[in-house]
Amino acid sequence: MAALILSFLFAFLLSDLPPSSAQPLILSSFNLSDSPWRPDQNQTLLSANNVFAAGFRPAPSSQKLYTFSVWYQNISERTIVWSANDKSLVNGSAALVITASGQLRLNDFSGQNLWPWNASGNPNSTELILDNNGNLNYANWQSFKFPTDTILPNQNMSLIVSKNGKYRFTNSTDLVYDSTDSYWTAPNGNVLQVLNSDGEMVQGNGGSFISADFGANRLRRLTLENDGNLIIYSFDPDLGKWVIVWEAIQQACIVYGTCGPNAICISDGSDSTTTACSCPPGFRPSAGGAKEGCEIKIPIKDARKTKFLQLDYVNYTSGPNNTIQINAQNLTICRHSCYNNSKCLGFGFKYDGQGYCALQLERLLYGYWSPGTETAMFLRVDSNENDTSNFTGMTSLLETICPVNISLPLPPEESSTTTRNIVIICTLFAAELISGVVFFWGFVKKYIKYRDMAQTLGLEFLPAGGPKRFTYAELKTATNDFSNLIGKGGFGDVYRGDLTDHRVVAVKCLKHVTGGDAEFWAEVTIIARMHHLNLVRLWGFCAEKGKRILVYEHVPNGSLDKYLFQPGQPRFTEDYELETGPVSANGMNPILDWNIRYRIALGVARAIAYLHEECLEWVLHCDIKPENILLGDDFCPKISDFGLAKLRKKEDMVSMSRMRGTRGYMAPEWVRSDPITAKADVYSFGMVLLEIVTGTRNFEMQGSLKNSEEWYFPGWAFDKVFKEIKVEDILDSRIKHSYDSRAHFQLVDRMVKTAMWCLQDRPDARPSMGKVAKMLEGTVEIIEPRKPTIFFLSDE
Ligand SMILES: *[C@@H]1O[C@H](CO)[C@@H](O)[C@H](O)[C@H]1NC(C)=O
Ligand SMILES: *[C@@H]1O[C@H](CO)[C@@H](O)[C@H](O)[C@H]1NC(C)=O
Ligand SMILES: *[C@@H]1O[C@H](CO)[C@@H](O)[C@H](O)[C@H]1NC(C)=O
Ligand SMILES: *[C@@H]1O[C@H](CO)[C@@H](O)[C@H](O)[C@H]1NC(C)=O
Ligand SMILES: *[C@@H]1O[C@H](CO)[C@@H](O)[C@H](O)[C@H]1NC(C)=O
Ligand SMILES: *[C@@H]1O[C@H](CO)[C@@H](O)[C@H](O)[C@H]1NC(C)=O
Ligand SMILES: *[C@@H]1O[C@H](CO)[C@@H](O)[C@H](O)[C@H]1NC(C)=O
Ligand SMILES: *[C@@H]1O[C@H](CO)[C@@H](O)[C@H](O)[C@H]1NC(C)=O
Ligand SMILES: *[C@@H]1O[C@H](CO)[C@@H](O)[C@H](O)[C@H]1NC(C)=O
Ligand SMILES: *[C@@H]1O[C@H](CO)[C@@H](O)[C@H](O)[C@H]1NC(C)=O
Ligand SMILES: *[C@@H]1O[C@H](CO)[C@@H](O)[C@H](O)[C@H]1NC(C)=O
Ligand SMILES: *[C@@H]1O[C@H](CO)[C@@H](O)[C@H](O)[C@H]1NC(C)=O
Repeated sequence: MAALILSFLFAFLLSDLPPSSAQPLILSSFNLSDSPWRPDQNQTLLSANNVFAAGFRPAPSSQKLYTFSVWYQNISERTIVWSANDKSLVNGSAALVITASGQLRLNDFSGQNLWPWNASGNPNSTELILDNNGNLNYANWQSFKFPTDTILPNQNMSLIVSKNGKYRFTNSTDLVYDSTDSYWTAPNGNVLQVLNSDGEMVQGNGGSFISADFGANRLRRLTLENDGNLIIYSFDPDLGKWVIVWEAIQQACIVYGTCGPNAICISDGSDSTTTACSCPPGFRPSAGGAKEGCEIKIPIKDARKTKFLQLDYVNYTSGPNNTIQINAQNLTICRHSCYNNSKCLGFGFKYDGQGYCALQLERLLYGYWSPGTETAMFLRVDSNENDTSNFTGMTSLLETICPVNISLPLPPEESSTTTRNIVIICTLFAAELISGVVFFWGFVKKYIKYRDMAQTLGLEFLPAGGPKRFTYAELKTATNDFSNLIGKGGFGDVYRGDLTDHRVVAVKCLKHVTGGDAEFWAEVTIIARMHHLNLVRLWGFCAEKGKRILVYEHVPNGSLDKYLFQPGQPRFTEDYELETGPVSANGMNPILDWNIRYRIALGVARAIAYLHEECLEWVLHCDIKPENILLGDDFCPKISDFGLAKLRKKEDMVSMSRMRGTRGYMAPEWVRSDPITAKADVYSFGMVLLEIVTGTRNFEMQGSLKNSEEWYFPGWAFDKVFKEIKVEDILDSRIKHSYDSRAHFQLVDRMVKTAMWCLQDRPDARPSMGKVAKMLEGTVEIIEPRKPTIFFLSDE
């Protein structure tokens, strides 16, 4: 009973008394006369500022086992930042003692000392004290010199080890797994020295990087987590929890050891920490499951009787001693090198024409799947193996790239895809040639430009780590305090910016964005992973102080609508101009010829197909219209704003669709509140395609017809082309004269027929976007379309 009253009293004292008062349970220092300190004493040592506390803490695994730790005292999440005995827990018989000779010991039940290092001082004057910055001191000994998995602000960097012991941050530069294998190196290889109180990580050689909440007066810590990621957390007092303000690795699968040997780590991209382990074709999970590793189904006995299975976007490593990197002119050479080496278990190859070929010998470790690798892995299996690879997508990506990449080495097998590729390339090449020799030289010049662009921009600036996180201050400087407005859009205003590395960027400040920081980050990472020559590249983002900003490559020539529709025509309601492009001398944009129009259509179709089929289902664009198709050099089209629909509030999307209703580019199912699928994008694309041919806004047709209740642009176009057989009536009047039925009939015919299929009222009657691209290419036959009709017109 007395004990009960006492403990109530203690609880009362604990909560109400200032920490400095020398109450039995709260110590401001621990000295010889306080010794011994036993786990069941409920005693804590507080720092003078009341932020940190030290003492025995029950281990998560058992209430009867303890660690002697330091944790945060003044916030709700009492996260442990240091422990004396993480690896060897003690029970209630343990004690922290100061011996008569002045040694500080953590004695377990048997009297064995678990305190890290020999901490000794004069017993008459030395005390154990917890500093305001969380450093535990006794004589010359300090906990800051013996960190566990966490480094606090102003603590010098030294070896830290994740709680589970799997991962280490060594030499102040490298994250390593298994003691030797480094999977991350500090920016520029410069050692990390100290995280200062502003949230800046100061590096050796003068470098530094800053956390997203730089400058704010927050509690922060740098922790090496059990999943191998190095993270700076900041305590958000409003949310009452720790938030991530910097992380070394944004794709969890890059961390070594996430999956066992031979297995492939797959992150579904929905958040950066969830991973799954899967076995490659020809392999099965080992006894402990794929997470423990995979074993080959048919062991290779004779290296001559083997073949290779292609795994797109998969990268393995065998460690530096077991990887041979050679420069192979083409896939055949790379494959032969591996085939002829009996130790070679597979090889990685890039289709970018640079000859990257990495042979993996003896072991296959740390496999992961990520489109960012831009690599295909070829795994050696027995020639009797009949598994087929389900890691695909690369070949179709190659196909969907702008025609300028035609000198890429072709995919290996003389498969139908290769033939199809050749057909496409020949068609495009023929189209180029027809339009003139001058154009051809321009084409060659542009090709070099594109190649350089792909090399420098694509590979250098977007490493597998994901998009760069910019600070608001950086973007403010880059955009000259947001002074150069180049567009206003449904998602927000766009400013021109110049980064310190001389890249010109388009900086889009988003409006009405949902979700927290981490959610935003995760989604932006997915968007940034979408690589396609016909998609505007996302370089980075900023999420700070409630601001949500995206940093895109700058596409100089402005949007398609500027070229397609004559000036002076009334503009689309609630419209936006994404870019203001160069204009010719008479103040008008040049008029696009048929070949360019065809190429724009094809590029856009391929990019949407890529979004729908290679990426995740949610990347429905939902807002395809000429304003969102930007034109780069050589009029290579680039779709902007993809993936953003997910970031918008649902109500916004719905009201947006209601507002646009029957007009414009929204598929009928938006108005009918039917489920929205990828086919809604197909409809919008069909409308754009028709506009590319006619040079007219679908709802701004001139003439009296427009006023009729029944009038529907696609239906009207259908009648003209397929009933009256007067194709010329729908062609853009500005370039009608240059329409040469021999040269252009095929292109225009395909565009019109494809558009008609895309504009079918019923979603299931519309082809998939992949099919649409093939229809435009001319690699599939297009059967005569049915007349597009629409049944909701009367309710307008
Ligand atoms: C310490 O606290 C625990 C639970 O909070 C309680 O069961 C125990 O009796 C306390 N011990 C002492 C010595 O006050
Ligand atoms: C904890 O203490 C620090 C330093 O005095 C202060 O900045 C922070 O606001 C405090 N947090 C809470 C939740 O009281
Ligand atoms: C601690 O463990 C030892 C050895 O297992 C045991 O003898 C001792 O009784 C335990 N002490 C308590 C308080 O459980
Ligand atoms: C610890 O250090 C003190 C003084 O530095 C020394 O006298 C003592 O022998 C050392 N003890 C051990 C176990 O190393
Ligand atoms: C500590 O104090 C005691 C008595 O006051 C004295 O005998 C002893 O020598 C002192 N120890 C040291 C190391 O100064
Ligand atoms: C230990 O600390 C207490 C309170 O702070 C003090 O009264 C006492 O003199 C100290 N003892 C030694 C040996 O320093
Ligand atoms: C750390 O440094 C040592 C000595 O310089 C070196 O041998 C070792 O390879 C380094 N470790 C890593 C992971 O870079
Ligand atoms: C690579 O080989 C060298 C020399 O044989 C050896 O010292 C080193 O430990 C090996 N490294 C690994 C990661 O196996
Ligand atoms: C690959 O390159 C080699 C050497 O240049 C050449 O002999 C071979 O024909 C090429 N193979 C293919 C498929 O292009
Ligand atoms: C594959 O992974 C290894 C080790 O992580 C890395 O060094 C290499 O650059 C990666 N290759 C590609 C093409 O991403
Ligand atoms: C694949 O081969 C295995 C035996 O190696 C056989 O049992 C299986 O039926 C084959 N599957 C197919 C689809 O051919
Ligand atoms: C391939 O199939 C395996 C087994 O069915 C599955 O675990 C894995 O996730 C698939 N991989 C891809 C990339 O779809």
